[in-house]
Amino acid sequence: MWTSLEDKTVIVTGGSKGIGKGIAQVFSKNGINVAVVARNTDHAESCAAEIRKSGGKAQAFVGNVADLASMNRMAQEVVDTFGGIDIVCANAGIFPTCSLENMTGEEWDTVMNTNMRGTLFTIQACLPYLKLADYGRIILTSSITGPVTGYAGWSHYGASKAAQLGFMRSAALELARYQITINAVMPGNIVTEGLENLGADYLNSMAASIPLKRLGSIEDIAYAALFLASKEASYITGQTIIVDGGQTIPESLEALG
Ligand SMILES: NC(=O)c1ccc[n+]([C@@H]2O[C@H](COP(=O)([O-])OP(=O)(O)OC[C@H]3O[C@@H](n4cnc5c(N)ncnc54)[C@H](OP(=O)(O)O)[C@@H]3O)[C@@H](O)[C@H]2O)c1
Repeated sequence: MWTSLEDKTVIVTGGSKGIGKGIAQVFSKNGINVAVVARNTDHAESCAAEIRKSGGKAQAFVGNVADLASMNRMAQEVVDTFGGIDIVCANAGIFPTCSLENMTGEEWDTVMNTNMRGTLFTIQACLPYLKLADYGRIILTSSITGPVTGYAGWSHYGASKAAQLGFMRSAALELARYQITINAVMPGNIVTEGLENLGADYLNSMAASIPLKRLGSIEDIAYAALFLASKEASYITGQTIIVDGGQTIPESLEALG
């Protein structure tokens, strides 16, 4: 029997869509108060409303992860609403494509500001409250792209997702003194609005390259995050879980079978 997470509070950045929305839904089904954080109020509100309709506790909060002042405001509002912060899912991320030959400094910075600085600012804004919570779980949404695999057009994105893991390992040492853990989920190809925008050809060829022969679901990632948020995971820090249907395993097409 797992220890209940009832009445703990989670902040999910990028909680209005895709993987973050899956995390918000699965965490709420486990009795956790959910702060759905995104820049667009309408999407965040409708995600929070859906959760409330199915009996969970959720509220939408506006926050831009690339802006520390905005994240500080959001964290204070969450505490005013739910009384504290126990778990942080630093999930917001963007993945525009651009060849390295054409990439401008601005395009590079936009990806790094959201994916990398966004991770830092999310944690910085929540840390004072996590320290008070006497619990403290941080879960990053990294990716297989960058730390393990590559994809043409995603050199900036891959760099940002690998950087999150380098950040995490040093952060784990700084946070350990507060009994706060930080770990990362590394999704493969997960069916989300963002991924669907890449087109049917991309989705079909990806599914064919995965041993389990399907793309992942947002719940596949959410349950891995929920495990890392559990009391039972309290001795795990600075680690990663790949959730990719075995996509990174085959050495060749023949090995894929
Ligand atoms: N989908 C996949 O297959 C896949 C695979 C590996 C890793 N990942 C990672 O999973 C995470 C989520 O990806 P997804 O596919 O679920 O993306 P998505 O469907 O495009 O949703 C992105 C979410 O992030 C929010 N967001 C974007 N920029 C933000 C900012 N500056 N501040 C606050 N919120 C922001 C968006 O809301 P607003 O636009 O309203 O702010 C939205 O809620 C990302 O970190 C991505 O790298 C995804």
